[in-house]
Amino acid sequence: MSLYDEILESLEISPQRISKTAERFSHALADSSDCCGLKMLDSLFNRPAGNERGEALGLDFGGTNLRLFLVQIGGRGFRLVRDKVINIRHDRLNLDLTQSSVDGSQLFDYIAAEIGEMVDVGQDLPLGHCFSFPFRQADRNTGVLQEWTKEIKTGGVVGQDVNRLLEQALLRQGLVNIKPTALLNDTVAALLWAAYLEDRADIGSICGSGHNSSLVDGEGRIINVEAGNFHADILPINRYDTMLDHGSSNRGAQSFEKMVAGVYLGELLRLMLLDLSHETGFFPSLGLASKQLTVPNSIHSHDISSLLASGILSSGGKPVCFQPDEQERIQRLALALVKRAARLIAAAYLGIAEHLDPGLNHHHLISIDGSLYEKMPWFAAFIRTGLDEVMGERSHRIETRFLKDSSGLGAALAAIITTGP
Ligand code: BGC
Repeated sequence: MSLYDEILESLEISPQRISKTAERFSHALADSSDCCGLKMLDSLFNRPAGNERGEALGLDFGGTNLRLFLVQIGGRGFRLVRDKVINIRHDRLNLDLTQSSVDGSQLFDYIAAEIGEMVDVGQDLPLGHCFSFPFRQADRNTGVLQEWTKEIKTGGVVGQDVNRLLEQALLRQGLVNIKPTALLNDTVAALLWAAYLEDRADIGSICGSGHNSSLVDGEGRIINVEAGNFHADILPINRYDTMLDHGSSNRGAQSFEKMVAGVYLGELLRLMLLDLSHETGFFPSLGLASKQLTVPNSIHSHDISSLLASGILSSGGKPVCFQPDEQERIQRLALALVKRAARLIAAAYLGIAEHLDPGLNHHHLISIDGSLYEKMPWFAAFIRTGLDEVMGERSHRIETRFLKDSSGLGAALAAIITTGP
């Protein structure tokens, strides 16, 4: 068997594997002493009542592109007053606040200055801070970062209360009227928002640069699963997954996320192509392209989206030249990677639904946000078919639905909840 075929085979996830992974995932959710890595962090937020109202800021800090929303919320709906994107890494401006050489105060000063540009001077506003990294909290307004994920490494933040860092930076900018009153994970914010709009939502998930899910437990509490840290023998880890892990900034952690999240898909493809370039004859152009492929993390998930849509692969912003038949094979490889990610996520969703409702007697609404789910060709469809294949006629019991901007809007809702009567 050629190396190419071997790789394709290693990426296949059979329906049996989906079921077994779901079962393993479900066990891990039920038993917190299980060593499968699910952190099950209590968000300290409950399912919303649905009658919340007010005006607030929602800051969505989920990766290198932060989103800021100013919204008025009420009547199970909202009015967007203003929003903006805050980039903390910008190649063209030579800005990178994600490196370990940068201090946390620099990072938060930059964010606070950007917030200051969007709000009216003197307006009192609570701010919900949706911070999408693992943190432990003692109350709804504080949270100590346990570790960075998704290749962010800014110094002086791990071990610190990130909401105090934000609050102090806002004060340094003279923004005394902006009060960070809530801190929550993006999956929690997404679920809070979905459950505000529709009572039935009981699972929230992010499929973007990172991956994770949250759930409403039997007592109405929203629990952040930290699904990305799931690891178990059932995961079909291949040698490229291991290579990626060894080269990552959080070696040994987030095994599941490294197979399914946008920030890693491009790197997995690059490692595979580089390996294939050593096989003579099969991919003649790969030899020439291999120089372009030696730069780690030079293929991004949006490059994979364009490859799937147009057949053209870019690395480091430049198209890599291949013959048409090679292009087709590379596309197949990328599609197999995307399919693997989606089917593993389907397994995690099934595991969560089975944990909440062992007989799957009820309807479950999984509210999903994130660029991979929204924009990656086939991704959402692969999750659906993965569920359909193993659930058969009960498949409609798990509904997956995209809800745009739910983490930012949920953060604003959280701010209103924490300041409400
Ligand atoms: C983080 C989670 C987050 C997920 C999605 C992961 O890397 O650990 O806290 O929810 O990304 O953004």
